[in-house]
Amino acid sequence: MNLEPPMIALNMKAYRESSGENGLKLAKICEEVFEENGVCMVICPQQTDLSLVCRKVSMPCFSQHVDPIDVGSYTGWVSAEAIKNSGAEGSLINHSEHRIRISEIDILIDKLRSFGLSSMVCTNNEAVSKAVAELKPDAIAIEPPKLIGSGISVSTAEPEIVSDTVDAVRRIDKGIKVLCGAGISNGKDVRSAIELGADGVLLASGVVKAKDPKEVLLDLISGI
Ligand code: G3P
Repeated sequence: MNLEPPMIALNMKAYRESSGENGLKLAKICEEVFEENGVCMVICPQQTDLSLVCRKVSMPCFSQHVDPIDVGSYTGWVSAEAIKNSGAEGSLINHSEHRIRISEIDILIDKLRSFGLSSMVCTNNEAVSKAVAELKPDAIAIEPPKLIGSGISVSTAEPEIVSDTVDAVRRIDKGIKVLCGAGISNGKDVRSAIELGADGVLLASGVVKAKDPKEVLLDLISGI
């Protein structure tokens, strides 16, 4: 998948509002907004919903996680090949709620690429982002864990972590897209992120927990 900035990535996590039938409904809302506005958007359904959502909506889907395994006797693990076969176009890696080792991140970036899948590696600070940038992922999403789910936007509460990470990653590889996430909930947060040099945002609760997800999505896009 071509990650064309500016982009919005929605991590649907494991909320009741974004799982099963609710997850499919939310994905269809995202698809409607995606088709009406032509913005680069990715949704990340829960693993158990991934194949269904990929089949039922025509917009890029990423898995929320992938394991550093090949196919075979790996009970409960998910391979890059299985993600490919689900119809997804990439995967989040190392989300703060599903941390893995740097050696596994290294393996996964290559494994995803070998299946034509994109990698979006989540990081918690500038130093980790620099280390991950050396592994050449397609994208890095910087998210200070303490702001996740807080409703306090990283792009306004900690702008320097966004701009410093963008600069540090660009110095290593200008081809890596840098998104920011944690507390993003409106167009102003998106505009601030872009003004800080980010290629887009990664968010969850601002949309998933919203009374009117479509209204929030349109407001987010207004910031682009
Ligand atoms: O992956 C994005 C997520 O961790 C951010 O969470 O709820 O603050 O948008 P939220």
